[in-house]
Amino acid sequence: MHPVVRVKPRVTVVSHPMVLEQLTLARDKRTSQVAFRKAIYRLGRLMAYEFLRTLETEESEVETPLGLTRGGKVKGNDKIVIILVLRAAIPFVEGMYKNFPMARTGVISAWRGGAPDFPIEVTYAKIPQIKKDDVVVIADPMLATGHTLLEVARRVGKQGKPKRLAFFSVIATMTGINYVAKAFPRAEFYTCAVDPGLDEHGYIVPGLGDAGDRSFGTPR
Ligand code: URA
Repeated sequence: MHPVVRVKPRVTVVSHPMVLEQLTLARDKRTSQVAFRKAIYRLGRLMAYEFLRTLETEESEVETPLGLTRGGKVKGNDKIVIILVLRAAIPFVEGMYKNFPMARTGVISAWRGGAPDFPIEVTYAKIPQIKKDDVVVIADPMLATGHTLLEVARRVGKQGKPKRLAFFSVIATMTGINYVAKAFPRAEFYTCAVDPGLDEHGYIVPGLGDAGDRSFGTPR
């Protein structure tokens, strides 16, 4: 008999008041396409800002016009690799660059089919080599069923094992987090909200709708 593996996922809900404000704007069905995209951009920027707290800092000394004092800088900002999941993560990642200016970036298109299997079709993937001291951030605004992110993480894993693996989403569900965490128990999940459920199409409820469509328009 196989032992039952229980995983307690490492989830951080980023709860800054500005995050709440932008998330509320993004959720609001009356928000225009442009305003929605800006809100996702700002959420990417704020999440990256908060994430920087988890990196080490390096002390230094600095001379001001009036004397010497202690200073410092973030260590490891050049080790960040962002994986952008097309297309909804485009504004999200654009915001992240404000605080991860040196990030290397992989791009992957992952199309999720329908319930109940939610098959994932990957038609494009350009992922950089991952080194053992890298911090990989997989960015997708909606962590719904977890099928897309699991497939993306598996493909990233083929390029090397990073020091840290983090999933950034605007909204997640515990169903999706648990699904991914089972395969990647050391992974960290950063999100602005954990919503209660999914509908029969795998959309997050209440969520914010289709993040790609709301940023870029609905394809015919
Ligand atoms: N993708 C979205 O854009 N929204 C959801 O709610 C789920 C997946």
